[in-house]
Amino acid sequence: MNQYRKDFPLLATKMNHKPLVYFDFAATTPKPTTVITAIAKYLQEKTGNPGRSTHTLAFNANVAIECVRTKFLEFLHATTSHRVIFAKNATEAINLVAHSLAVTYRGQGVKPTIITTEAEHHANLLPWINLQSNEGFDLMVISVKKDGAIDIPALLAEMRKYKGAFLAITHYSNVTGNITELKQLIATAKENDITILLDATQSAAHAPIHLQDTPVDYLVVSAHKMYGPEGIGALVVSNTAFSSLQPLILGGGMVETVTTSNYIAKTDEGKFEAGTPNTAGIIGFGHSLDYLSSIGIDTIQQAEKKLSEYFLNKAKMVKQLHLLGRTDLNNRSPIFSFTLSSIHPHDVAEFMDQQGIAVRAGYHCAEPLHKALNSPGSVRVSLSFLNTTEEIDYFFAILSECLLKYD
Ligand SMILES: Cc1ncc(COP(=O)(O)O)c(C=O)c1O
Repeated sequence: MNQYRKDFPLLATKMNHKPLVYFDFAATTPKPTTVITAIAKYLQEKTGNPGRSTHTLAFNANVAIECVRTKFLEFLHATTSHRVIFAKNATEAINLVAHSLAVTYRGQGVKPTIITTEAEHHANLLPWINLQSNEGFDLMVISVKKDGAIDIPALLAEMRKYKGAFLAITHYSNVTGNITELKQLIATAKENDITILLDATQSAAHAPIHLQDTPVDYLVVSAHKMYGPEGIGALVVSNTAFSSLQPLILGGGMVETVTTSNYIAKTDEGKFEAGTPNTAGIIGFGHSLDYLSSIGIDTIQQAEKKLSEYFLNKAKMVKQLHLLGRTDLNNRSPIFSFTLSSIHPHDVAEFMDQQGIAVRAGYHCAEPLHKALNSPGSVRVSLSFLNTTEEIDYFFAILSECLLKYD
């Protein structure tokens, strides 16, 4: 039995009277007891409005938030190069950057070309479509290849063509599990004065990220996919990009001075965090980072590689199963989306649900990617180091029953 499972109360529960087999880590992750307890303790004994009142509770809440800011930078090996702005989730963080671009270039004739890819989650596509439709930006969308991987040579060619462009790209695909290699992209970006926003929503809890070695300008995450709570995410911004970033939300807590006709905004992270922050969420996020660090992200990556290999070998033996994405272990994370020749993905997910297995079916908020792969939707299994080979065996046994029923 996996030694870490006992830390996650959710994993000991039942679903539809069957022991829960949680295979939906790409959607959201269970929370360890340390995270749950820390949030409850803050809500029970420590609540105060940070940056507002001056009493000890408020002061301590502020200290707690600043500690998590530093902790996350350490987690990403970016203590001096980057800054952390808290947002509701990765979606809001990306929208903040897109809004800043809109405001910065509004009324200007020359705007950076936005480059993105067909492999993106809608969160990293719609804001750029909006810049094209409503703000006059040019948008280049790089295709994926037959295996769902981003066409990197085509991307590099566009980056060389559109100097000064803005590239918004996923690190780990939430559908194919494909991993975007960063080193070459970053070198090409540097040569061509290109800004990079990396969507690390599916990678940050599964692989080490070294922002000092692979320095992107922006990086986004959601805490709930990193064993933290919902409602909190982060935008990590390089010091250079930080100085020109424009806020998305205006209001209390973000200003130095205000008159009835003007205001002067703060110059630190507070400029982007108007309104009372989600202190409980930030504290929970900090504890999820502690939890990940206590195991070691390299250890997690190795464990997930082994489980991925086990899953892939079993999947290859099911002749009706068509995997979206690569069938080898290279450059892939523990996310597997597939179709079955004659069964609708929702029927498979429903069948699994009745047997206690949580998977996701549909487009997974990546409709253009599914269309590029001629797929009407897929079943997604997303694993983590918390899973076991026994759970994978059980999944394939239930899949056989499903095939017998529908095929
Ligand atoms: C790759 C990727 N980017 C962005 C998001 C958006 O995350 P959230 O809904 O937490 O903002 C997701 C969510 O699944 C994702 O998988």
